[in-house]
Amino acid sequence: MGSSQYDLTGQKALPPPESLFERCHWLYALCREYLFRDHTPEITNALFPTGTPADGTRILELGCGPGLYACRFAKEYPQITATGIDLSKRLIQRARERASNLRLHNCTFIEGDAQALKELPHSVDAVIVSRLFLIVPDKEAVLAEIFRVLRPGGRCFIAEPTSGFRTRLPLGAMWLLARLTTSPVAKYREPQQAEVMPSADFVELVRTPSWASVDVHYDDWYQYAICQKSELQAEQPSRSTS
Ligand SMILES: C[S@@+](CC[C@H](N)C(=O)[O-])C[C@H]1O[C@@H](n2cnc3c(N)ncnc32)[C@H](O)[C@@H]1O
Repeated sequence: MGSSQYDLTGQKALPPPESLFERCHWLYALCREYLFRDHTPEITNALFPTGTPADGTRILELGCGPGLYACRFAKEYPQITATGIDLSKRLIQRARERASNLRLHNCTFIEGDAQALKELPHSVDAVIVSRLFLIVPDKEAVLAEIFRVLRPGGRCFIAEPTSGFRTRLPLGAMWLLARLTTSPVAKYREPQQAEVMPSADFVELVRTPSWASVDVHYDDWYQYAICQKSELQAEQPSRSTS
């Protein structure tokens, strides 16, 4: 059934505000490629501590943007499957083009909300989340979803920036570009200023689910957490769809 253009009071419902990542997808993809820290070595150590992932390993990149990590790991390890999920249709399109240019057959990209993931056919072995929490409104919901979709013993890697200046710069540039190129200026769902998460808040947030272990590390510009679910963790019950 298609969604109604009227709300429950009979008023014409406003469309949801556009995303800056949708409007300025190419600018974000450029920043991701050339400006931001690449955590590939840290993610490899965190998610594949034995050095090589087992055949059939399933990884998920949430808020994947242009799909840097999903493509990189799918290319490096042809025996795994990688899935990237993002709200932005255009960034998903870019990610698919990247996978296609690299001739990857083990990497797919899906439009979706990390706060309420659709049922996945299988639980996943590892989740990568980079620079998502500074944008997403319901951070606890994202963590609950990560915990839910991971298999017992599964791991996740979560990286968040700690440098206010380097975080505000790209978002500020996207706001400026959007203002200069839309008339009248549209409303965007992202905050005008990206606030970095204080370390204590980050630690408290990543510890919300009942992980078996959580390791938090810091480098020049980022805080990152490696969380592992207990091997004995009971499978999570499926969410009701009603
Ligand atoms: C700051 S970018 C990070 C992109 C990528 N992970 C990286 O490391 O560059 C945030 C991304 O999250 C996406 N996003 C925002 N809210 C989301 C949500 N609720 N579910 C999925 N993706 C979301 C945006 O479209 C954008 O691509």
